[in-house]
Amino acid sequence: MLESPPSNSRGAHLKNLNFTSQRTLFILLLIIAACSLFIWYKSFMTQVPFFRVVVPVSVAMPALRPVVFNLTEFGGVGDGVKVNTEAFERGVIAISKLAKNGGGQLYVPAGVWLTAPFNLTSHMTLFLAQDAVILGIQDEKYWPLLPPLPSYGRGREHRGARYGSLIHGQHLKDVVITGHNGTIDGQGHSWWKKYRQKLLNHTRGPLVQIMWSRDILISNITLRNSPFWTLHPYDCKNVTIRNMTILAPISKAPNTDGIDPDSCENMIIEDSYISVGDDAIAIKSGWDQYGISYGRPSKNILIRNLVVRSMVSAGISIGSEMSGGVSNVTVENVLVWNSRRAVRIKTAVGRGGYVRHITYRNLTFENVRVGIVIKTDYNEHPNKNFDPKAIPILQDISYSSIHGEGVRVPVRIYGSQDIPVRNVSFHDMSVGITYKKKHIFQCAYVQGRVIGSIFPAPCENLDLYDEQQRLIKKSVYQNISDIDYAF
Ligand SMILES: *[C@@H]1O[C@H](CO)[C@@H](O)[C@H](O)[C@H]1NC(C)=O
Ligand SMILES: *[C@@H]1O[C@H](CO)[C@@H](O)[C@H](O)[C@H]1NC(C)=O
Ligand SMILES: *[C@@H]1O[C@H](CO)[C@@H](O)[C@H](O)[C@H]1NC(C)=O
Ligand SMILES: *[C@@H]1O[C@H](CO)[C@@H](O)[C@H](O)[C@H]1NC(C)=O
Ligand SMILES: *[C@@H]1O[C@H](CO)[C@@H](O)[C@H](O)[C@H]1NC(C)=O
Ligand SMILES: *[C@@H]1O[C@H](CO)[C@@H](O)[C@H](O)[C@H]1NC(C)=O
Ligand SMILES: *[C@@H]1O[C@H](CO)[C@@H](O)[C@H](O)[C@H]1NC(C)=O
Ligand SMILES: *[C@@H]1O[C@H](CO)[C@@H](O)[C@H](O)[C@H]1NC(C)=O
Ligand SMILES: *[C@@H]1O[C@H](CO)[C@@H](O)[C@H](O)[C@H]1NC(C)=O
Ligand SMILES: *[C@@H]1O[C@H](CO)[C@@H](O)[C@H](O)[C@H]1NC(C)=O
Ligand SMILES: *[C@@H]1O[C@H](CO)[C@@H](O)[C@H](O)[C@H]1NC(C)=O
Repeated sequence: MLESPPSNSRGAHLKNLNFTSQRTLFILLLIIAACSLFIWYKSFMTQVPFFRVVVPVSVAMPALRPVVFNLTEFGGVGDGVKVNTEAFERGVIAISKLAKNGGGQLYVPAGVWLTAPFNLTSHMTLFLAQDAVILGIQDEKYWPLLPPLPSYGRGREHRGARYGSLIHGQHLKDVVITGHNGTIDGQGHSWWKKYRQKLLNHTRGPLVQIMWSRDILISNITLRNSPFWTLHPYDCKNVTIRNMTILAPISKAPNTDGIDPDSCENMIIEDSYISVGDDAIAIKSGWDQYGISYGRPSKNILIRNLVVRSMVSAGISIGSEMSGGVSNVTVENVLVWNSRRAVRIKTAVGRGGYVRHITYRNLTFENVRVGIVIKTDYNEHPNKNFDPKAIPILQDISYSSIHGEGVRVPVRIYGSQDIPVRNVSFHDMSVGITYKKKHIFQCAYVQGRVIGSIFPAPCENLDLYDEQQRLIKKSVYQNISDIDYAF
């Protein structure tokens, strides 16, 4: 601390003034330097894509419902040891009583909140603070068994009942799961290990599964290490999934699909990052005879502005369970990187149903083995009673503005005599390849067109049109096969 000079000493007073102004100048310069550094840093950061500025201060919780409860009010303890199932359930019950008054918000503060599976209620917002982690309990005896999904007839991995999801809901409306990038962590490692060792008697549970519900918003949080599929909206309407991070190890995390819209309509998935151990997204609608009789399609789905990665399967998939039909799906502005496949439609004889009106636009493939895939012999069936005459229809599929580099096989459309692929179109494609030029645009039983010139050169199965949509050359070989899995 500076000692104040005697007030009667003029010299000392002047000296002090001088000292004070020097100090002020120095501080001023320091502020200017700090400001310009900050401005430079900000503009630098916004110029670099996929670079997010992390703000380390904790932000106040917004009240998104008329009433907000803190999980701690219900006895929750966020020490990673106490099992909080009852606290979550009590919170949900309290909110269910507010349904007529706009519902309620359950605030999960920073901490590690271990829990067994619990159910949500309508008109509810589950809000996860920054550094809040909802942790799934690993012991499977805490996981209730639920009946098979009607459109699957059995568990996906085992006959009969299946484990429910960590966070579950049925027959709900107006549900929001959001936060300041808090995390729901399924601790899948023990499940993956038991699955590999064949120690489980029932199909593993998803991390979040919402069934027969509408008006669902899931945003601004991280989902990780699901035992099975991560986020599974089943027979839902009006679902928005936005600004999410979905993570699982890229290998040895079996069936950890990111998002599986299943018999859903009016759905949007956007502005998210997904890197998982199976498909990043797989649109489904039931399995063989069960899906056909349930008869609920997935339709009107918009997927955009994503960065996805799948080393085991594909970035964006449709199927293989698609027996209720899939139509009107748009996939745009998606980057698929370091993946096995980029976009894939998969089906088999016995599925029935259809995949049609599918639009892929502005896709970038970076270091993927196979870019565009249609596969018609994905022969996994729920049992032997599937109908071999139930032939899926694949048609009206367009690919435009497809770019990338480091792709081994840009296109593999494997139709068959039973399941020909009709009315496929390609426009504005240039994909840098890593291998040789022959047999890398592979086709069989496919009819469709190429508009303008594309790279690599298309297979002979497709008709050629110019940019003005005038026919240049009609293909006479739609059914020849140039499929080679060796590439
Ligand atoms: C929730 O409760 C915890 C523990 O009492 C407290 O630290 C936190 O500030 C509370 N949060 C809000 C938003 O009320
Ligand atoms: C959640 O609700 C479903 C359907 O009502 C029920 O079968 C299940 O047991 C409930 N799960 C839990 C953990 O309470
Ligand atoms: C996305 O979520 C993060 C927190 O996870 C938040 O900081 C950011 O503002 C959100 N972005 C948008 C555009 O909502
Ligand atoms: C949210 O958290 C995940 C996982 O920790 C992280 O990868 C992601 O960058 C975070 N998102 C934002 C916007 O901070
Ligand atoms: C599976 O069933 C076997 C035989 O009934 C039983 O010993 C084992 O404990 C069960 N495993 C699980 C995870 O339930
Ligand atoms: C869709 O759900 C949102 C809430 O997530 C709601 O605000 C909106 O009104 C719903 N739209 C329709 C058409 O029901
Ligand atoms: C995500 O978080 C940002 C920043 O807090 C907020 O502005 C936005 O409304 C949130 N988005 C959704 C869909 O919840
Ligand atoms: C197709 O889906 C989009 C949403 O992605 C929707 O806006 C549009 O109305 C749907 N078209 C038809 C014909 O249903
Ligand atoms: C294409 O998608 C990328 C993201 O992969 C995006 O940055 C770019 O703006 C998109 N281009 C157009 C024309 O929408
Ligand atoms: C072919 O598919 C496109 C959509 O990709 C559609 O607009 C067009 O009508 C279809 N053509 C025929 C002949 O069905
Ligand atoms: C190709 O095969 C399909 C289905 O098997 C058939 O409908 C079509 O007529 C064949 N096209 C040609 C040009 O032979």
